[in-house]
Amino acid sequence: MAIYPELKNRIVAITGAAEGIGASTAHAFAEQGAQLALIDINDRGIDKVIAALSPSRGKTLAVRADVTDAASVAAAMQRITGELSGLDVLINCAGGYGRLATVEDMPLNEWDQTLALNLRSVFLVTKAAIPSLKQSKAGRIINVASISGRTVFANSSPAYGAAKAGVIQFTRFLAYQLGPAGITSNVIAPITTLTPRVAALRTKEDVERIAGEVPLRRLAVPEDHAQAMLFLASDGAAYLNGVTLDINGGRVMM
Ligand SMILES: NC(=O)c1ccc[n+]([C@@H]2O[C@H](COP(=O)([O-])OP(=O)(O)OC[C@H]3O[C@@H](n4cnc5c(N)ncnc54)[C@H](O)[C@@H]3O)[C@@H](O)[C@H]2O)c1
Repeated sequence: MAIYPELKNRIVAITGAAEGIGASTAHAFAEQGAQLALIDINDRGIDKVIAALSPSRGKTLAVRADVTDAASVAAAMQRITGELSGLDVLINCAGGYGRLATVEDMPLNEWDQTLALNLRSVFLVTKAAIPSLKQSKAGRIINVASISGRTVFANSSPAYGAAKAGVIQFTRFLAYQLGPAGITSNVIAPITTLTPRVAALRTKEDVERIAGEVPLRRLAVPEDHAQAMLFLASDGAAYLNGVTLDINGGRVMM
């Protein structure tokens, strides 16, 4: 793993940190000695992640919050910036969707819930974090979108794809509006990733078929994204702003 000495003691908040890519990102920042606020609706899950983090981590908070709920987000951010004395890096990773769907078979409540989890959440958490990020010497916002927000090449969820495209464009607005305050904003767009949840859902044949369409001939693993987010938080990425990093093994090139 790459080592970024400047990340030691940086205060990093990660949403969706109890599972998958968010949990892997928590491990990567813990290895660097960062201070962590792990935000998730699943408090038992966060406790499990914290119990397995590297002992090199700095002070670490478990923060139970629903990222779709404004009051819950406000309380979480107040606690984090109070107990960890500020915020340097915000990673909006909570997201996902329940099933493959078509526009024709999608009820309005599914559309609303998917937009809330994937787009409203990013607005709420980011807005609550901005005052503290403005106080940081190296404020960073890293959002997690998806290849589904970049293009359509396989069945997914139209609500999810629309929300993730929204996250990408929202990130560009953040880059434009917060750049003068010294905060960078960037977004990653992962391909299907072998998180424990995805691995349980997909058959071996599915995985081989999808991997066969990727020039690197494998699906992503959560660490691929965690490493990219370490770099985006590092001093070496100080002049990257408004960038979408496609982490897809070359499956879609744009
Ligand atoms: N896994 C993939 O194949 C893949 C591909 C592209 C993009 N992504 C994106 O990466 C991110 C992480 O995906 P993952 O597969 O690791 O997810 P996951 O399902 O493994 O974990 C998501 C986490 O978010 C938490 N969460 C859900 N609703 C919440 C809420 N309302 N408030 C707070 N926390 C909540 C869950 O408890 C869980 O810990 C998501 O934004 C997802 O859209 C994932």
